[in-house]
This record gives sequence, structure tokens and C-alpha cells, in this order.
Amino acid sequence: MNVSYQLFLVIPPGLEDLALKEIELKCPVSPIQVHKGGLELKADLSWIIKAHTQLKIPTRILMRLSTFKTRDFPKLYQKFVSFKWNDYLSHPEPEWEISCSKSRLMHTGRIEETVKKALTEAMRKQPLGKDWEKKHHSPQTFYIRIVDDDLTLSLDLSGEPLYKRGLQKIKGEAPIRENFAAAFAFEILHDLKTEVTLVDPMCGSGTLLTEGLTFYRPLHLRKFSFEEAPFFKGKLIKLESLDRSLPVTKALGFDINGELLAKVVKELDAKLPITLKNQDSLVKKLTTDESVILCNPPYGERIQIQGKRGSFLKEAWEKFMQEDRPLRFGWVLPSDMDDLFSKAPGYHLKTKRHLKNGGMAVTFWIWERES
Ligand SMILES: C[S@@+](CC[C@H](N)C(=O)[O-])C[C@H]1O[C@@H](n2cnc3c(N)ncnc32)[C@H](O)[C@@H]1O
Repeated sequence: MNVSYQLFLVIPPGLEDLALKEIELKCPVSPIQVHKGGLELKADLSWIIKAHTQLKIPTRILMRLSTFKTRDFPKLYQKFVSFKWNDYLSHPEPEWEISCSKSRLMHTGRIEETVKKALTEAMRKQPLGKDWEKKHHSPQTFYIRIVDDDLTLSLDLSGEPLYKRGLQKIKGEAPIRENFAAAFAFEILHDLKTEVTLVDPMCGSGTLLTEGLTFYRPLHLRKFSFEEAPFFKGKLIKLESLDRSLPVTKALGFDINGELLAKVVKELDAKLPITLKNQDSLVKKLTTDESVILCNPPYGERIQIQGKRGSFLKEAWEKFMQEDRPLRFGWVLPSDMDDLFSKAPGYHLKTKRHLKNGGMAVTFWIWERES
């Protein structure tokens, strides 16, 4: 029988419903509990592999290892000494991420000291093999969370966050995170009845386009932390292809930064149907194809824009909606600009979601052309 593990998928707050839909479409499992910032579920190792290679919205996946009440350091020490580390540990000096609230144990520095001592003692009793040295394993990260004196110990299965796909290294000055880009592309495209050209008029490194085109493509271009863990040892990751794609035939990206585009083009997977053009998108018509426009424009923070950001964005919005007239238009903007963009002639607001991007409150809008 396959061992079932208790898992927690870390999701950017505001994208939980899309992450849930993504699981239903790619690797269904039930039940799933939805929390702010995460999804909790039970699944086996083959699901963990699928999730890491197929899901594009989660930030990382944690495995819950133990939960117990703890109110004092001796009990904490004892619990960590007797824990079966050999089932999970792949490096003798893991990293610890500790958080506490409403508990008697609140001093994270002392908690870390105690668990490190306990781990050293545990290693004396159940020594770790030498694989970690021979195979140059990286230290894992364990999460300790204490709330109301209940401690949860979890192991990070992913390592580097999952939005680091290993697909594209060249980035512009304010690139959008791959998992946000994947969620936005998925939301704007997944329920379309016709195939479209996906257009990003301010594409920078083209993340929204590549994520849209590869949403259903499994990837294993980097290592995941669980591949070095004892419970995985000796197994291989096989990519299972998914028999579907988002309804996009090709992608078109425009940007005024020609230097960046030249570098991005060199690195792009030649098999992806993407064309990038150095062009001011406020001046020329973008395409004559039936299109969906998706972008994250500059907000005037990291990337300078001419004049006031409000008037620049208003001009861009009017040009895209009145001249380019895509089937759908989606963009992400700081939420303090919500009032500027509420009514678009000939379009209705399809969805509007609030989330945080790099600590900033933003709104992801989707408008749909009225027939
Ligand atoms: C926030 S960045 C986009 C980042 C992109 N989504 C990525 O992941 O790399 C905004 C981009 O808009 C471009 N831009 C600004 N004004 C433009 C214009 N009028 N026409 C085309 N591109 C423009 C900037 O050069 C910059 O690359």
C-alpha cells in the first residue's frame, strides 16, 4: 500500500481558488481543505512528484511530520530526540524556520537552540548515513510552527520556491513571479470557447506568455528537495504529459526595451510559438488576430514611466480597449488605482481579485468584450 502523507501547499494569498482548480484539472485528490495562503490534503509519493512537476501556482509544498502539545523546553527536547529523523533527514545540518504565537514557548532563538541540540543527540543514537557527503546533498528546511502551545513540525519538500522553474534566467527589472503569471494566464484563458493569440503589450521578459503556453507542460528542469530525502531514495522522476493545453495558438510580446527583448529571445525555447517585438504598444496596433491581452504594466516604481502613472495607464487602457479590442483584457495594477479603471465601454468586468504582489496590494482585473 502506498504511504499517504499529510501535505500543505503554500499558495500566494488571493490565489487559493485558482490553485484548487488547478489541482482538480491536473492531479485531483480529495478532500482538500482551503486555508488563507494554503491548501491541505493527503497524498502519496507519486502525487508529490506530479504536484511538483505539474502544478504552476503553488509556491512550495510542505510535508507535515508531527504535531504535539509543548509548553516547556525539556518536553520539546525529548520530542525532538525521539523523532524518527532517519525517515526524513538527508543532511545533518538542516535550516529551521520557526514561528510562534499565543504560546508559552515564544523565544524562537531558544527553540532553535533546543531542537539543534536534540537533533545532535538523536543523530548519536541513529547516525545518518554518509550519502549526504558523497552526493553533496543540500540542507533541508524544517518548519516549526507553535500556535496555542500546539507544535507542528513540517519538512519543506520543494527547496527553491516552485516559481523558480529553471526555464528562464533572463529577467527584466520588475518581472512578475512565475506562479502569479501562471495563475493570471490560467484565469483569463481556461474557459474560452475559441483559440486565441495571447498578447502581452508590455512583456519584459515574457513571463506571462511563457507561463500561458506552458501551463499544462510538466517541468523538471531543477532539483526538488524531496529527491534527496530517505523516503524518496532510489526512485526516479518520470514526467507524465498532460493531454490538454490552454486555448492559445501563439503568443505575441511587445516591449520598448529592445535590449532586454534581444536577450530574452536568445534564451527562449525555440519550440514555443512566441514572437517578441520591440515596439511602443501605445502607438501601434498590436494584432489583427482574435486576441486576449494580458499584462502587468510599469507602476512607475522600479520602472520609470513618462508623466504621471495614472495618465500613462489610462492612455494605455483606452488604447488597448478601444483600438486593439481583444476578446478579453486582463492586467494587474496597484489597488489604490481601482477607481480609475472601473468602466470600460463595450466591455463588462468578468472578474476582479485582490492579492499582494511583493508586499504591495494589487488588483487583477479581467474584462470581456460584449458581443
Ligand atoms: C512590469 S514590466 C513587465 C514585466 C514582465 N511581465 C516580466 O515578467 O518580465 C513592464 C514593462 O513594460 C515596458 N513598457 C513600458 N512602457 C511601454 C510601452 N509604451 N510599450 C511597450 N512596453 C512598455 C517596460 O519596458 C517593462 O519591460
